[in-house]
Amino acid sequence: MLPDGDPLLGRRIYNQQCLTCHSLEGSPYSNGPLLGNIIGQKAGTMSKYRYSQAIKESKIVWTRENLFKFLRKPQRFIRGNYMDSQVIKVEDRLNIIAYLESQSAWFIGSWITNYIIDIIYSILMKFKFTIFL
Ligand code: HEC
Repeated sequence: MLPDGDPLLGRRIYNQQCLTCHSLEGSPYSNGPLLGNIIGQKAGTMSKYRYSQAIKESKIVWTRENLFKFLRKPQRFIRGNYMDSQVIKVEDRLNIIAYLESQSAWFIGSWITNYIIDIIYSILMKFKFTIFL
C-alpha cells in the first residue's frame, strides 16, 4: 500500500510538469492523452489520442501502484511508449497521484457529462440566435 499524498500540492506539480501535455478533460492538447478519471482505467484507452503500440498492448491498469512506478521512469515501466518525462521524488509522485485521484470521479470526461454539456450549449446557442436574428 502506498501512503496518501496531498492533492493540493499534487495539483501544483501537475500544472508545472504534466499539464503542457495532459489536460484532464475537454479537447486534448496535442502532446498527450487526457488524464481526468485515469485511476482504474486500462492504459491506452483514455481518449481519442493515438497511443503507441507499446502502451496499447501493455494490458496495464492505472492503479496507484502502477502510476507510481510508471512516473518514476516511463520508459522502464512500458518500454517503447511515447512518454519520456519522469518524476524522481517519491513525495511528488504520491502528490500527483492524490491529485489525479481527486480528479477521477466517474462523471469527469464521461459521455453523459459531455452529452449534458452539448445540450446546454445548444440551448444557449438557440437562445442567442432568437435574440439576435
Ligand atoms: C512532453 C509531454 C508529456 C509530459 C510533460 C507528460 N506526459 Fe504523460 N504522456 C505523454 C504521452 C505522449 C503519452 C502517451 C504515451 C504513448 O502513447 O505511448 C503519455 C501517457 C501518460 C499516461 C498513460 C495514459 C493512458 O491513457 O494510458 C499517464 C498516466 C501519464 N502520461 C501521466 C503523466 C503525468 C502524471 C505527467 C506529469 C508528471 C506526465 N504524464 C507528463 C506525454 C507527456
